[in-house]
Amino acid sequence: MKIVVIQGPNLNMLGIREQNIYGPMKLEQIHAQMKEFATQSNLEIEFFQSNLEGEIVDRIQECYGDADGIIINAAAYTHTSVAIRDAISAVSLPTIEVHISNIHRREEFRKENMIAAVCTSSIVGFGPFGYHMAMTGMVQIMNEINAAKEMQKQQQVAAEAK
Ligand code: DQA
Repeated sequence: MKIVVIQGPNLNMLGIREQNIYGPMKLEQIHAQMKEFATQSNLEIEFFQSNLEGEIVDRIQECYGDADGIIINAAAYTHTSVAIRDAISAVSLPTIEVHISNIHRREEFRKENMIAAVCTSSIVGFGPFGYHMAMTGMVQIMNEINAAKEMQKQQQVAAEAK
């Protein structure tokens, strides 16, 4: 199973930017922890960060036919990007959005969320631990999808045997 982790604008500045909101951890440290979890869980994982909306759209599109799930923090584009929303919809993969801060407790404009409605779930306000939660959540989603597929297969075999 392959998970692609997509990080939006300014997340490359974690550990430097607004530590009172985002904490001291750097993006590389968050990714190192995710990588460790992925290795232990036998998952393939890739990381991508961009400050450019179109590059994020491109990376989401590349997931089609290649990845099994997406974990995305679209950062500021969460609040503005119809293009990223449409890309998530287009590839139709299990997608978990993560926000380090609780966007609902902050400025009004952060309450606007273009992408939540096309994501499988949203994790907000847990700090960098939210990425770990997203990984375990993704494993759960995949297990459910595989169990449903297996059941369908068995029903088909049973129907054919009649
Ligand atoms: C963020 C919240 C966004 O509002 C903000 O623009 C970010 C980070 C978060 O992880 O809390 O850059 O997505």
